[in-house]
Amino acid sequence: LLGLGHVGSAIAALALARPAALERTVSITCALVRDPGARVRQPGVPLTTNPRDVFEGGPEVIVEVIGGLDPARSLVLEALDRRIPVVTANKSLLARHGNELLTAARQAGVPLRYEASVIAGVPFLDTLARRPLASSLSSLSGILNGTSNYILSEMERGSDYRAALAEAQRRGFAEPDPSKDVEGIDALEKLTILLRQFTASDVSPDAIEVTGITRVSREDLVHARELGGVIKPVVHASWSGHEIDAFAGPAWVPRTHPLASLSGPTNGMRLCDGAGTALCFTGPGAGPRVTAITVLDDVIEATRGGWAPSPATGRARVSAPATRWLVRARGREPRPDVTSFGDRLASCGVGIERVSVGDACGRGTAWLLTHPCSRDRVEAAASTLAAAAGCDAFVLRTLEP
Ligand SMILES: NC(=O)c1ccc[n+]([C@@H]2O[C@H](COP(=O)([O-])OP(=O)(O)OC[C@H]3O[C@@H](n4cnc5c(N)ncnc54)[C@H](OP(=O)(O)O)[C@@H]3O)[C@@H](O)[C@H]2O)c1
Repeated sequence: LLGLGHVGSAIAALALARPAALERTVSITCALVRDPGARVRQPGVPLTTNPRDVFEGGPEVIVEVIGGLDPARSLVLEALDRRIPVVTANKSLLARHGNELLTAARQAGVPLRYEASVIAGVPFLDTLARRPLASSLSSLSGILNGTSNYILSEMERGSDYRAALAEAQRRGFAEPDPSKDVEGIDALEKLTILLRQFTASDVSPDAIEVTGITRVSREDLVHARELGGVIKPVVHASWSGHEIDAFAGPAWVPRTHPLASLSGPTNGMRLCDGAGTALCFTGPGAGPRVTAITVLDDVIEATRGGWAPSPATGRARVSAPATRWLVRARGREPRPDVTSFGDRLASCGVGIERVSVGDACGRGTAWLLTHPCSRDRVEAAASTLAAAAGCDAFVLRTLEP
């Protein structure tokens, strides 16, 4: 084991408990940590601070659960160089260096598996990769971050953002530093991993539009409902070959969409092919125990020498899609001048489909659902509206059915 923190300890506990469902006995030869005295450790696991002890202890598989980019990247490369199969749950590492690592694994002739890196409790990557359907997939939509989904669900129930985040931290759904979750980076990294797998393209996370949930207000959620939808922290992508349209961020989702009903920390994924066949997977996205179960599953698969993920075959060309938008325009007066707001947006080429009116922070506010257009166009229209009508305007994507 490289790392014996939350996930590493759960893996060790599960392996040592020898559950009957695990069809092979898994023994932990050694665990690499930073500081052996730093926390209460799982008894029965030899500790080291020297990676050599892990590599030279004759492991059949190395499990990387250190997290972050360094030293995780160099340790995984060293394991592969030594022809030791690797299992990891590290989405940052896979999003940033996945193709390099998969190429190294291919050259070494050993598997690199990462089922627990995306929706840790639902092992769907391997299941799908073995089916012919995988090659005809052309789009995906998902809720891949339980922290953000929990916070927005709590806000739907009446909490404000700060209280919802504090409750998420108290219940263990959010890290002490939640920025990667609430800024959308965690979901973006998982989307990058999925796109590499489903499009065989090398995708840089920096090429994909990402927004966080921090600017979404309680009022936005109430008026999103009045407009027939709900605001969810989603990822979406559609593709043809290496051409990809994608974004990650909060979006207005029609109530009829399968992701609209997923609340709390639950994750979900909807995959579609060009003929309209859709597959949905939902379940727990994180948590040491569910992650450990999926990692151990991968460990056993890695020793079997079956299917393993492949490196990309080409470089992705990523664009942000044209979608409908939810524009929140908060004026200076107690009543919003909806006609003037709509006219200003229309004069910039942004048509309005539906409107909900209310107030936010004591100021008349309109929530306007637009016709589809690009981000550049809606942002330019929102700036024009803000300058002309003295209101502040905020835009949010929509997820199309
Ligand atoms: N937590 C989840 O529910 C979950 C779910 C899915 C995926 N993951 C992924 O799993 C990975 C691990 O997460 P975690 O929550 O278990 O993290 P964690 O609790 O912070 O544990 C990290 C472990 O790695 C060790 N470590 C860190 N830097 C090191 C270094 N430079 N040299 C040697 N050892 C080092 C730490 O040593 P010390 O013990 O001495 O500090 C600790 O044992 C991450 O990539 C995360 O994204 C987590």
